[in-house]
Amino acid sequence: MDELFKEIIIKDNFYQSSSFVPMPLTLIGTLNEDGTLTSFGAYSLVFPYYIAGKDYYAMILECRNTSNTAKGILRHKKCTINFIPYSKKNFKQCVDNGFPGDTPEEKMKDFIFTPVESNSQKLDKEHKFPKILKEAIQVFECTWMDELDDASKDVVKEEYEGPYHNFNGITSRFGAHFILRIDHILLKEKYYDALINGAKKSNFCPLPTNWGYRDSKDFWCSSFKKPDAIGIPNREVDLTSIRYAANRMNTDVKFTDDALKTIVKVPRPFLKFVLQGCVDWANQNNVKLITEKEMKIIADKRASEKKKKK
Ligand SMILES: Cc1cc2nc3c(=O)[nH]c(=O)nc-3n(C[C@H](O)[C@H](O)[C@H](O)COP(=O)(O)O)c2cc1C
Repeated sequence: MDELFKEIIIKDNFYQSSSFVPMPLTLIGTLNEDGTLTSFGAYSLVFPYYIAGKDYYAMILECRNTSNTAKGILRHKKCTINFIPYSKKNFKQCVDNGFPGDTPEEKMKDFIFTPVESNSQKLDKEHKFPKILKEAIQVFECTWMDELDDASKDVVKEEYEGPYHNFNGITSRFGAHFILRIDHILLKEKYYDALINGAKKSNFCPLPTNWGYRDSKDFWCSSFKKPDAIGIPNREVDLTSIRYAANRMNTDVKFTDDALKTIVKVPRPFLKFVLQGCVDWANQNNVKLITEKEMKIIADKRASEKKKKK
């Protein structure tokens, strides 16, 4: 082949019909119409949406608008996103639960996973919440933010005619987007440890991401292999650029080099924001020189504010 790449036509479902996009394998739990059963549908187009800087964290789900899942979210506003570990058997169950047209009762008939009570349900006995799956690696318990894009008036219909929303609720004739506030994240202990106490090869979270419906014939998914770890490049020695940024701040507050060394790992786009936070603290506390000691006080204050917010 002389060409470096071959351009492909971009068509519906381009993420798997015209390209290979890594995606998670999840089963989303929603309540059926009368709230007596949790139905689980297979979903992969579910990604982080608000990751910082808002009052809450959120995922976005792209979903067929006549699915059980879309109906469950429109009616009850709640769902659970269950991340399924890879095995051929698990993958087969996900593909079965991805078959359009089955009712929640039909779907759950020979289901191999075990639905159990969610955290939200444990904390609130008055309302009904969808269940979570015992076998999941991690679970997000979510609430649909229907006030965004004025979507709260969207109701379950068999067919949707316009006008459609831009990004939340019913967004096209066949499609829906749901912005889902994350109420709880639950992790199996092994993977909790990987995040909190240190990641090792042995506790690396084996989530399948390399899967797709290919050639209009088969669902493919690769199994998980050994992870590799690469250390963060050690670029923190160069203080010059941070000192330069600190000196350019519109203030008479000064930083010692030891103080600046504590923020060498802050990504550059956030550096000014972090420095301004320190200057604001200094002004409030009549401090003119910020040393390592003041940086520690500021960091502790920030950490406790974050904790309170939760
Ligand atoms: C692994 C897998 C992932 C899927 N991901 C999505 C998705 O992200 N969005 C979507 O609308 N349909 C997706 N589908 C198709 C849905 O699962 C299908 O519409 C199914 O009927 C939904 O179930 P429900 O009606 O119980 O919600 C996927 C199917 C499979 C097998």
